Amino acid sequence: MPEPLDSALTEVRSMLLGPALTRAVAAGRRRGQRPSMVRAELRPVALKAGQRLQISTSDGDRPHTRNLSLGPEAEAAVEALLAEPFGNWHVETADATLQLRVTKSGEAQVHRSTASRSVAPAAAGHDRSKEYLLDPGDPLFAEIGGSAAKRRQVDAFLRALTATLPDGLAGQLDRPLRVVDLGCGNAYLTFAAYRYLSGTGVDVELVGVDVRDDQRRRNTELAERLGWADRVRFVAGTIADATVEPSPDLVLALHACDTATDEALARAVGWRARWVLAAPCCHHDVAAQLRTRPAPPPYDLLTRQGILRERFADVLTDALRAGLLRLHGYRAEVVEFVDSAHTPRNLLIRARRTGAEPTAAQRAEYRDLVTQWQLNPRLETLLTQLPPTM
Ligand SMILES: C[S@@+](CC[C@H](N)C(=O)[O-])C[C@H]1O[C@@H](n2cnc3c(N)ncnc32)[C@H](O)[C@@H]1O
Repeated sequence: MPEPLDSALTEVRSMLLGPALTRAVAAGRRRGQRPSMVRAELRPVALKAGQRLQISTSDGDRPHTRNLSLGPEAEAAVEALLAEPFGNWHVETADATLQLRVTKSGEAQVHRSTASRSVAPAAAGHDRSKEYLLDPGDPLFAEIGGSAAKRRQVDAFLRALTATLPDGLAGQLDRPLRVVDLGCGNAYLTFAAYRYLSGTGVDVELVGVDVRDDQRRRNTELAERLGWADRVRFVAGTIADATVEPSPDLVLALHACDTATDEALARAVGWRARWVLAAPCCHHDVAAQLRTRPAPPPYDLLTRQGILRERFADVLTDALRAGLLRLHGYRAEVVEFVDSAHTPRNLLIRARRTGAEPTAAQRAEYRDLVTQWQLNPRLETLLTQLPPTM
């Protein structure tokens, strides 16, 4: 139900100036109006001189950051921001999250939830909040929709992400972390990843790529509604060719169909991405190759029956993908990221760039495997097409 804007902004004001504020972002614009800045982000910071309210604003070009004393100075700055015709406010405190969107008729559409647990550490136990990295009651999910199974899947994917990124990443970056989600579809993962990473204090720029232009339009509108449009954007194009600039540090791909996962891995290598997390989907490519050529002795029993051949092709495909990543300077492993009850496609290729040259043994084990099975993996082909500097 829409609410009067003034009273909703009064609530925002008290959260911004209250002691429990953790982070707030204002962005977007109201119908027919334009704020004097593109985005404002507020967070408390502890400086040697004492507690301050940090306000970073961006005019779309350059960011400008001020650390303001609590009291009249911070109050005046908050007042000035509330007077700007922003279309969205997202405010998080230690015990609540508020998301405000100004409707076309100038009213406030507000989502409130208690205790954002977006960065709650994983822990065993039966407390629902601890089972999830992102609280299922987070207003984000009311906006992006998706089934409970999808939420579980995305949450598990994010857990794998936290285990991959180094501790204290926020303090190690002198620019935003660049992330791409390849084959993003409805962008559940894209938005959830933004929510999660920005909640840990990392300044993130995220690009979602999907071949479908209708998805790009839908997702872009959603990003605007969430007030994240300056940080989360969408590109329509193929994973192999979409323009993503500057190159991302982190590549995500959740269930990109068949060889689209190979395209994602090849792009990641080409970009020299520091981290790659790709949960493959169906594997038709190697399965089709196995169907048309004899298995090397004595492995005929593995591929004679269709279902066994398909399952074997799944294993072979991901083993070859991990092997190829190792040959291209990555430490790569294949893990189960979520219980198979939530999706049968529950494997994750997780890789971190080390830049290490492959050993002769690594080269030989890969080559022997593809030669014996007479395979021509799509990823290998794509990697040979990368510019020679890679
Ligand atoms: C199974 S959906 C997964 C979507 C999303 N990652 C998720 O997990 O909800 C696969 C998505 O990849 C997109 N896709 C498939 N092949 C692609 C390609 N070569 N380039 C770009 N997008 C592709 C499809 O349009 C679809 O939206």
